[in-house]
Formats: sequence, structure tokens, C-alpha cells
Amino acid sequence: MKALILVGGYGTRLRPLTLSLPKPLVEFCNKPMILHQIQALVDFGVKHVILAVSYRAELLEHQIRAYEDKLGIRITFSLEDEPLGTAGPLALASKYLKEDDAPFFVLNSDIICEFPFEALYNFHKSHGHQGTLVVTKVEEPSKYGVVVYDTKGQISSFVEKPSEFVSNKINAGIYIFETSVLNRIELKPTSIEKEVFPKMATDGELFAFELNGFWMDVGQPKDFIVGTGLYLNSLKAKSMLNTPNTECIVGNVLIDPTAKLGSNCRIGPNVSIGANVVIEDGVCIKRCTIMADSVVKSHSWLESCIIGWKCRIGKWVRMENNCVLGEDVVVNDELYLNGVKVLPNKELSKSVAEPSVIM
Ligand code: GTP
Repeated sequence: MKALILVGGYGTRLRPLTLSLPKPLVEFCNKPMILHQIQALVDFGVKHVILAVSYRAELLEHQIRAYEDKLGIRITFSLEDEPLGTAGPLALASKYLKEDDAPFFVLNSDIICEFPFEALYNFHKSHGHQGTLVVTKVEEPSKYGVVVYDTKGQISSFVEKPSEFVSNKINAGIYIFETSVLNRIELKPTSIEKEVFPKMATDGELFAFELNGFWMDVGQPKDFIVGTGLYLNSLKAKSMLNTPNTECIVGNVLIDPTAKLGSNCRIGPNVSIGANVVIEDGVCIKRCTIMADSVVKSHSWLESCIIGWKCRIGKWVRMENNCVLGEDVVVNDELYLNGVKVLPNKELSKSVAEPSVIM
């Protein structure tokens, strides 16, 4: 089987991290985001992954090629001269998608869940129509476009930000299609959600498959941090989280084996620490991701932050409320940062008490 992953977006909401790396290569829980998806596809038996790219393609290709041999699959890069949206890339890649008559998966690149490929495939085959989209339940449907469908899963309509309750299920960004769907898509910038799905629903050709378990679009910092907690929890439930058994660890924590932890720290819950990170003595970290090669000096306190690669956080620093540091940022000793986003290669020598962007 084949899968196409949409990786052509600019990832603006994950800046400043996406100023250094394209979003699919930004690590989520110590693994490039896109590898979570490719690995799950390979586990199901997908042998050919097509990456639909329109931005920073060379860097992406250079890094991803290495996985082709490791995973024993074929990876094709389908390059757009101009961004083709979420449907146009399928038309561009149609020669690969039509190589055989088997259905193919399509995925947004920044979603994290327990990918239900086998159950999705079986459900899709059982109804025999052109497409199936995965839906997930949300608490506040009025903020989203919701999907309306009957007891068999047949979708009748999509309602954008409903003011009255019609459904609490939203599009989870995972699809499976018959190759005949390609006859509906032209080679031009097109939105699959706005232009293709409503017509398929009108024709009775689109079904919904309900996802069990957690789901999160980790394409913005707040959700990235929430998603980290959900993902670590699911690893823990499968006994796949090897948290070191020391006094300073609280709850679910993922630590790369090359990272060094000082004494009298309090790390966790819901923390991910990357390769070669150094955490000095007496540091407290909750709900954070610390990316590779960063240092957090003694007695600093971090909650709900993402620290990019090669950052230096001084002593007695306090950071909270979805701060995101780009690559190679230095935060001097004893500063307080609240909700700030700091662009790469910057040194901070003053506290910032209100959420803002530091250029
Ligand atoms: P933001 O800039 O933060 O909104 O992120 P994004 O650009 O990734 O946009 P969004 O999260 O809405 O995109 C959903 C999915 O479609 C992501 O996997 C994107 O990579 C992908 N995508 C969006 N636009 C394009 C495009 O023009 N071409 C391709 N190939 N993929 C796209």
C-alpha cells in the first residue's frame, strides 16, 4: 500500500522552531514529527510513502532519505512549484498513487494519535465507497468545522463553527481513498476540506471513521505541549516509556540516554528531554520539551515551555506560559519570561513579563 503525507505547509504557528527546521523535522518527543507517522504506516505494511513538499524541500529530502534504507521502504518526494493546498498535491502525485488500484492513505503532517490504519482500512473496504476520513471528538465543537454523519458513518455535511449542537466530531486529518477520487481533483491550488469533501459527501461517497483514544494537532506551541502529555501517557499505557527510576522524576518523562541530570532536580510530569541536554542541580521542569544540545543551569524553574536546540538557560531563571525559544537562544541568569517567543540566535538580558515576540 501507499500513503501521501502533506508536508508543504510553512508551519508559521510553530515559529520560531520552524525558522530552523521544516515542521516535519521538528522533534516531537525526541523524534522528528514525520517519523511518528512514517513508522506507524510502515508498521501497518505501507511500502511507498510520498511526501508532498513545497517548501524547504532540499533539507527535508536530505534528512528523510536516510530513513528509506533503515525502514526498508520507498520514499518519493513530490515537489510543488507553488503551494497546491491540501488537495492539489494529490493531483500532482497521481502517477504514483495510481501505480496500482489499491486504496491509499493521506495524512496531515502534524497530527499525533494512535494511528488506526488497520481498522480504518477494514472499515473503508467494508463500505465500498470512494473515501473515508477519520473523525475525533472535541469538547468545544463551536470552535471547529464539524462532520455530520449517520449511524453507518455516511457523511451528509460539514458545518463550520456551529452555533447550535450538530456534532462534536471533527476531521482528524487522516484519510483513505480509492484511486477514483483523483478524478475529482485538478492540478491547481485546492483545499480538500473546503472543495473536495463537500462534493463527495453530496454524492454519498464519503464516510467517517471514529478514532478511539487521544488525538492532537501539534502544529502550535500550546497544543504541542498538551500533545506531549497525551503521547507520553499512551507510551506509558503500552509500557513503552523508559523513564529513569530516580527520585527527581515525577510522572511521565522521556529522557534521551545521552542527557545529563544534576542532583536535587524535580523533572515532570509530561517532560521530554532531547539528546546531549544538560540539566544542572536543583532545576524544576514541568510540561516542557527541551530539544537537543541545550543547557539549563542550576535552580531554574520551567513550566509549559518549548526550548529549541542549543539554548543556554542561566541560573535561577523562571519561564512559563507557553514560552518558545528558537535555536541557540541565551537567557541570562535570574530572568523571568512569561509566554514569550524568542527568535533564533538571540541573547536575553532583561525579563519579559507579558507574552510577546522577541526579534
Ligand atoms: P501553519 O502555517 O502554522 O498554519 O501550518 P501549516 O502550513 O502546516 O498549515 P496547516 O497546519 O493548516 O496544514 C495542514 C497540513 O497540510 C499540514 O500537514 C501542511 O504541511 C499541509 N499543507 C498545507 N498547505 C500545503 C501545500 O500547499 N502543499 C502541501 N504539499 N502541503 C500543505
